Amino acid sequence: MSRDRSSYSALLASFAFAVGAFALSGPASAQQDPGVRGGPPGAGGPLPNLITCGVNPGCGQAFFTAAQVFFTSVFSVTGGIDDGAALGVTNGGPGLGPRFNLNQCAGCHAQPAAGGTSPRVNPQVAIATLHGANNVVPPFITKNGPVREARFVLNPDGTPDGQVHELYVISGRSDAPGCDIEQEDFPAAIAANNVIYRIPTPTFGLGLVEGISDLNLVTAFNSNQALKSQLGVSGHFNINPDDGTITRFGWKAQEKSLLMFSGQAYLVEMGVTNELFPNKRDNETTPSCQFNVLPEDMTIFGTQDPVSPPTGSTASDFSTGIVNFSTFMRLSAPPTPVTSASASAVRGSVVFNNIGCQACHVTQQQTAVNGLAFLNSSSNCPPTPAGSSASCEVTLNPYSDFAVHNMGYGLADRVTQGVANGQEFRSAPLWGIGQRIFFLHDGRTTDLVQAILDHASPQSEANAVINNYNLLPPQSKQDLLDFLRSL
Ligand code: HEC
Ligand code: HEC
Repeated sequence: MSRDRSSYSALLASFAFAVGAFALSGPASAQQDPGVRGGPPGAGGPLPNLITCGVNPGCGQAFFTAAQVFFTSVFSVTGGIDDGAALGVTNGGPGLGPRFNLNQCAGCHAQPAAGGTSPRVNPQVAIATLHGANNVVPPFITKNGPVREARFVLNPDGTPDGQVHELYVISGRSDAPGCDIEQEDFPAAIAANNVIYRIPTPTFGLGLVEGISDLNLVTAFNSNQALKSQLGVSGHFNINPDDGTITRFGWKAQEKSLLMFSGQAYLVEMGVTNELFPNKRDNETTPSCQFNVLPEDMTIFGTQDPVSPPTGSTASDFSTGIVNFSTFMRLSAPPTPVTSASASAVRGSVVFNNIGCQACHVTQQQTAVNGLAFLNSSSNCPPTPAGSSASCEVTLNPYSDFAVHNMGYGLADRVTQGVANGQEFRSAPLWGIGQRIFFLHDGRTTDLVQAILDHASPQSEANAVINNYNLLPPQSKQDLLDFLRSL
């Protein structure tokens, strides 16, 4: 349902006073995105206060460090090629292909540190022809453009598809002799308007996001209901059909947990079969392209330390790749904003709230009251006498309600995931946005101003808020942009 623009005016009148004060100071020049914040990456390290284990007080930190190695390690078809060496990282082992998007989690999740988002130089160009492969780089992949995965909207018979179609095949690679499957015909799919794109989302701090109880998500969602109805914002949660709980990961909040995401990414992005996704996507159709016993990632059955040399974390050594990936993300700290924000950025945080950005980008969330098992319970969750309420919550500032909203024709991707339809997306968490290069689900812009303006289009729930933004005096717009780049 499109919204009547005239109904915004009453609401805007109430904001005019709030922002008016800022208009007096500052030049009336055009506002602009200050660009990617320089300085050290404010992300990539472990949570403070990780679990300690009796005789091994460093166990939490050690598992994080070892799991980080898995996340950055590089895979080949049979494990025989060590492509990690050139990057100074570990050889991940076998499992790449037959179809894949890249050979390393941290290749896509790279900026501003391993675990993050799309790097400045897209590794999907070089990998197309690595080790003799003869893939053609699709037109939507460029050296200085974002990392992308592609989904097809419809199957050839016209029924909904929505699945990831990998960019590349292993045919021609020196470690895939005899494999001759062909790459998807992306130019044809593009000509048929049948391809949509997704860029990587950052994985920092996601253990805390897993730890938010459904009740707390619903409470935060309902707490700004009056503001939402004033602004024409609605939204709803995506739900896991298996257990009825709220799903929260991915651009449409389509995925339940970090373990689920790891299992799926391992198979879909790289081709590596694992205990959650034990079958190759085209197992029987390409016998000449199968080189390993499955699943390629498997719990260690032996009693001997499988890793040589050991990583320093027994828990990591005996865990599967997908457990290691999820542990790295679960134990990682949220991105940190600048330590001392500029006066403009401080004013911008007020603008953010005044014009209604936080109707969707909810500033604060809280983890469940019963604490998080991977945190040190003695300092995180002080022991209390039985019957009294322990205070174990962690407060986080993800700037998301983790709900999905109708973003209109302009952002629509025509793909349904769970109960999120082709126009609905999760309010993108804005923590760490100061150090991200590409914006929106398909990475269509590097300019924060454009990212904000693209929220508005017919049927978008964000139209009233973006109208408020458009009516801001230039200095207030600049303050808002400075605030976002301080995160
Ligand atoms: C080819 C690039 C690529 C590779 C390789 C890759 N990812 Fe991703 N990742 C993406 C994209 C694209 C998305 C967004 C997917 C979506 O929501 O449609 C994503 C999203 C995620 C998310 C969701 C984060 C959030 O904000 O909810 C997690 C978790 C994740 N990836 C983990 C992994 C792990 C673990 C690996 C390695 C096994 C991996 N990814 C490898 C591209 C990649
Ligand atoms: C109706 C809910 C809603 C409102 C209101 C809203 N946003 Fe968003 N925002 C979203 C959604 C959903 C996305 C992801 C859309 C996509 O990628 O297609 C998003 C994405 C973004 C992004 C890009 C993030 C990324 O990771 O690429 C920025 C920046 C942003 N919003 C800032 C703002 C600002 C500033 C305001 C206020 C002027 C605002 N938003 C208001 C829902 C909202």
